[in-house]
Amino acid sequence: MSATPKPERRVTLGDIAKMHAAGERIAMLTAYDYPTARVIDEVGVPLILVGDSLGMVMLGYEETVRVSMDEMLHHTKAVVRGTRRSLVIGDMPFLSYGVNIEHSLENAGRFISEAGAQAVKVEGGVRSARTIEAIARAGIPVMGHIGLTPQSVHGLGGHRVQGKTIESARRLLADALAVQESGAFAVVLELVPAELSAAITERLKIPTIGIGAGAGCSGQVQVITDLLGLTYGFIPRHAKKYENLAERMSAAIRSYADEVAAGTFPGAEHSSSMDADVLAEVLGAGALDRASMDAEVLAESLPLDRDL
Ligand code: KIV
Repeated sequence: MSATPKPERRVTLGDIAKMHAAGERIAMLTAYDYPTARVIDEVGVPLILVGDSLGMVMLGYEETVRVSMDEMLHHTKAVVRGTRRSLVIGDMPFLSYGVNIEHSLENAGRFISEAGAQAVKVEGGVRSARTIEAIARAGIPVMGHIGLTPQSVHGLGGHRVQGKTIESARRLLADALAVQESGAFAVVLELVPAELSAAITERLKIPTIGIGAGAGCSGQVQVITDLLGLTYGFIPRHAKKYENLAERMSAAIRSYADEVAAGTFPGAEHSSSMDADVLAEVLGAGALDRASMDAEVLAESLPLDRDL
């Protein structure tokens, strides 16, 4: 991370362009909540994507297409609150764009004005060119996403590498150029053969951010729960597990539950105490007299609505 800028201000598109021009590889990570965003931001990762992978890795849906705009905005707000430096990109969910331009602009705008993100991401190359262009022209920075685009996974025949045949490789090149010409500031290449990603990267002026696309991209993105060992269910081959947080969390939670069962938690250091005289006044002989107050009088003074 030594080459990555650690400005005290938020990373700008200009910073990303400068990193790219200087040949510095650009790291991007997904985040979906405040504490994780804070850690990523403090490390100095320049780009954070609030991916619609949120649906699967955080909300437990079976597919990303189940995620709503409201869910995306809710989590994007938390991530923005957790960051001071990283540039935050909100992932536009399924059918929040591409239906018509007004609808796409309105939803892209919500990520910026309601959630406080600095950019949005849109899936699709040639097919999304007009949408990307309209959003970028409205002054909202857009990241493209081509190759395996999870929102159209069924149409692509499952989670498989894209661009392996002459025809599909040509389509991918055309997609990459379309995204660039539409005004996107960067493009994600997902599940693309390393040789093709490197060739696309060489031909584009904007940075490519790879996931399962080899080392020849201008940068890389990973899903944070894959990296930390917190993903349940399918874990793609391109994901690298740097930590096993699920195991470490289990160990910590087991220790807590064991200590509660054994009565060793909380200890004095996790408790507070009070003045003995105050307690005696409340629980002493006079107080006991008061406690034996007629139960009916006491019940009548309680603000319960059982008689309503
Ligand atoms: O939603 C997501 O996490 C993504 C990344 C895999 C690029 O789109």
